[in-house]
Amino acid sequence: MDQLVIAGGRPLAGSVRISGAKNAALPILCASLLTAQPLTFTNLPDLRDVATLLRLLRSLGVQIEHQGSQATLCAQAVTEPVAAYDLVKTMRASILVLGPLLARFGYARVSLPGGCAIGERPVDLHIKGLQAMGAHIDIEHGDIVARAKRLKGARIFMDTVTVTGTENLMMAAALADGVTVLENAAREPEVVDLALCLIGMGARIKGHGTDVITIEGVSALNGAHYAIMPDRIETGTFLVAAAATGGDVQLIGARPETLDSVLEKLKEANAIIDLSAQQIRIRMRGPNHGVSLRTAPYPAFPTDMQAQFMAMNAVAVGTTVVTETIFENRFMHVQELRRLGANIEVEGNAAIIRGVERLEGARVMATDLRASACLVIAGLIAQGETLIDRIYHLDRGYEKIEQKLSQLGAHISRRSLEDA
Ligand code: EPZ
Repeated sequence: MDQLVIAGGRPLAGSVRISGAKNAALPILCASLLTAQPLTFTNLPDLRDVATLLRLLRSLGVQIEHQGSQATLCAQAVTEPVAAYDLVKTMRASILVLGPLLARFGYARVSLPGGCAIGERPVDLHIKGLQAMGAHIDIEHGDIVARAKRLKGARIFMDTVTVTGTENLMMAAALADGVTVLENAAREPEVVDLALCLIGMGARIKGHGTDVITIEGVSALNGAHYAIMPDRIETGTFLVAAAATGGDVQLIGARPETLDSVLEKLKEANAIIDLSAQQIRIRMRGPNHGVSLRTAPYPAFPTDMQAQFMAMNAVAVGTTVVTETIFENRFMHVQELRRLGANIEVEGNAAIIRGVERLEGARVMATDLRASACLVIAGLIAQGETLIDRIYHLDRGYEKIEQKLSQLGAHISRRSLEDA
């Protein structure tokens, strides 16, 4: 297993390019199952989760040519509409093959995603939505087995805002017979990116980006070319790292309009934010004030940025409160931050952070993707050396993170534990 070694205490400075968005790439790659024609994607990020999904799609029979950040996928003949447990258990987003397989082939067997570090994360709303569209769904030996002659358009109210639930149902509805209305739909930019790709394939979709999405099913979809949007969470992560280290950083190829709530919080923390065409520059006006925040579905503050802000708050002036309303167990980075000297109390879904003078480097362990990002930021802030174990979590969602941070002046390197 690999380990990151960080010598902290240096402000970040310089510019880096933002990669394609993991959480847009994953559903968009699954959209290839909806047509027999080839789809070419560009700006694909080089991530473990993308590699895992491409492996899963290949196992379904999708032909794939993948070169750097470009891939062409053709699902002319899907031989095996089955997503097996060993792949699904490594990446919950595999559930996104369910809707497309069922809509195009009338059958799908997808392993129920198991538990996850940050919460139970059920998929009941995905299943209920497909049943509303006429699917017969059984759970057999841990697998979701779905059958439908042809899905029918339906009016579906989701009582919890679910990002991949909205994406799964939008893809299924694209080939259904009739009109589907998704109510209380997720408004995340990644949902919009998927909708725009589907529209490029000939789907008839309105309301994407709002909480009511209307999809008029068509009999077949075509191939298309599509560029994946830039990753707003990678962007936010680098912005917080720059703010927390008192740096001056320029992010190239970012989309500021997908990050309003994060940019507002950074300004509240005493940052100066300059926006130009697809670029964001961040500097600090003075000491980091830290900010209280409460996560909620887009356009409110994203849960995927909660851990990163907690690292910044750990050395802020004063006391802040971070409230997590989306997942029931997304504070596992707290005990690791305490090892670095942070002063944090957890009460239910709220963490009270009392800013300390400094963090001291130590050995810590990554527990999930965004907790890993939090520990990298904490290591960049801490005096001395920080070692982060289990960074395979980090590699799921951040492309070349140590190269990008080194480009900004960080002293960070990767070593395999066997060499340590
Ligand atoms: C997506 O996960 C993202 N992943 C997550 O990013 C992100 O944290 C999350 O949305 C929230 O923004 C991808 O897009 C691949 P949800 P998803 O369904 O879709 C409950 C990262 O770090 N729920 O929006 O799985 C659920 O338990 C990852 O990149 C149900 O109850 O999240 C949670 O409390 C982590 N029933 C809430 O809804 C369902 O059927 C939101 O979950 C579905 C969800």
